[in-house]
Amino acid sequence: MSDAENRVQWVYSSPDNEELRRRYDVWAREYDGDLERDFGWQGPSLAVDYLARHVASTAAILDAGAGTGLVGVELQKRGYENLVGMDMSEGMLDEARKKRVYRQLDQMILGEPLAYRDGEFDAVISVGVLTLGHAPASSLDELVRITRAGGYIVFSLRPDIYMEGGFIQKQTSLEDSGAWKLVEVSPKVKILPKGEPEVEHQVWVYEVI
Ligand SMILES: C[S@@+](CC[C@H](N)C(=O)[O-])C[C@H]1O[C@@H](n2cnc3c(N)ncnc32)[C@H](O)[C@@H]1O
Repeated sequence: MSDAENRVQWVYSSPDNEELRRRYDVWAREYDGDLERDFGWQGPSLAVDYLARHVASTAAILDAGAGTGLVGVELQKRGYENLVGMDMSEGMLDEARKKRVYRQLDQMILGEPLAYRDGEFDAVISVGVLTLGHAPASSLDELVRITRAGGYIVFSLRPDIYMEGGFIQKQTSLEDSGAWKLVEVSPKVKILPKGEPEVEHQVWVYEVI
């Protein structure tokens, strides 16, 4: 196993949020190299492709679980400049700060109440964050609350986690209650084609009602 694969295993085996945060703090400086060089991480560009089909370039966008800012960099390339990032890990946020693409970076935890106003954002994007052992399906309630009516929520998700991680129930119940409606969902994409070609993600796009 490569060093990068060992680091991924180590982070993903965290027993709780506190340890997960600590391990991301440690990984932060190597993260971009590991993900781009060893794994060929496609998540940021794929999700931003989908967001850009619906969201105007002037939109206020929250990058939820921004990590080192790879999504912010993709957004900036497509002309988005009104960007806020949030993440549980200060170490990851320190790396994101160096990219100079976010106007604000906040340490917060998905799955807990977020310190943003109702309808504060025109769109929320979250890539590689909603998954087992990271941000739970219940995080979506707060993401809906902080997105304005008519705004968009775009996120990547593993198909097996959608089925078995509580997401199918949460996403369906938000539709049934009239909180959001599904706009589109991407085909399954090999999201780590170099290091873990068996891992697939889909990008989900919802409009908040
Ligand atoms: C795999 S990285 C993805 C980072 C970035 N979105 C990207 O595409 O490169 C996962 C990020 O989610 C953050 N994270 C995990 N669980 C979280 C939670 N419950 N609340 C906030 N951030 C969380 C981690 O600190 C880490 O920065």
